[in-house]
Amino acid sequence: MVKYYDEHRFNGDNVGDLAKIILTGDTLERWHRETEAFVDMMIAQMDITEKSVLLDYGAGIGRIARELIRKTGCSVIGVDTSSDMLREAFAYVAHPNFTAMSLEKYQQRVKEGAVKVDGAYSIWVLQHCDFEPAYQTILRSLPQGAPFFIANTVQRCVPVTPRGWADDGINIQERLRKDFQLTHDATKDLERILPEDHHNRVFCEFMCKI
Ligand SMILES: C[S@@+](CC[C@H](N)C(=O)[O-])C[C@H]1O[C@@H](n2cnc3c(N)ncnc32)[C@H](O)[C@@H]1O
Repeated sequence: MVKYYDEHRFNGDNVGDLAKIILTGDTLERWHRETEAFVDMMIAQMDITEKSVLLDYGAGIGRIARELIRKTGCSVIGVDTSSDMLREAFAYVAHPNFTAMSLEKYQQRVKEGAVKVDGAYSIWVLQHCDFEPAYQTILRSLPQGAPFFIANTVQRCVPVTPRGWADDGINIQERLRKDFQLTHDATKDLERILPEDHHNRVFCEFMCKI
């Protein structure tokens, strides 16, 4: 992990500021287009029903959880390291099928065997994290055969002080192949809705735990 990790990069006072942080300043139009596309892809690929319980790893303010719950009636556990994101997520999703908690609390629950999820997704998160602990948290939550969806940059973008993003060289796509079988590569579908400068810089995949 890089030496100067900026742990305040995902903090903000209100929903508007946090939304800008989530899409690194991109437009509100992208927010709506992308949220709808991710949710529709997940519904088509992950067999989500009102009985499903999903982990949203790095949930942010819960934009994906809110739409997924609205469209399928599923339940979502949002996990995030930013207390600002968690605070706003409760207000933004505002649904009894949604709960959110800190990473520490979630990891404790997983350790105690108190978490049971049917699948997980992580959108624009693992590129930014202390990768292996984050990844292991997701992995340990999932039963064999469970679906996992990821949208991520190809290269790592770790927030560093005093500014900017660092690439520590971890190849997430390759790492995932050790534990997951690819079921559908949706990278091209995602690229169609993203601004052109994101093309060839992202991947978007469905897989299931081996
Ligand atoms: C770019 S935002 C994406 C938020 C959300 N997935 C979305 O697409 O709207 C990245 C999120 O990951 C969270 N995050 C960063 N490091 C994390 C970690 N180690 N574990 C869990 N969440 C983390 C940040 O606080 C932030 O909410």
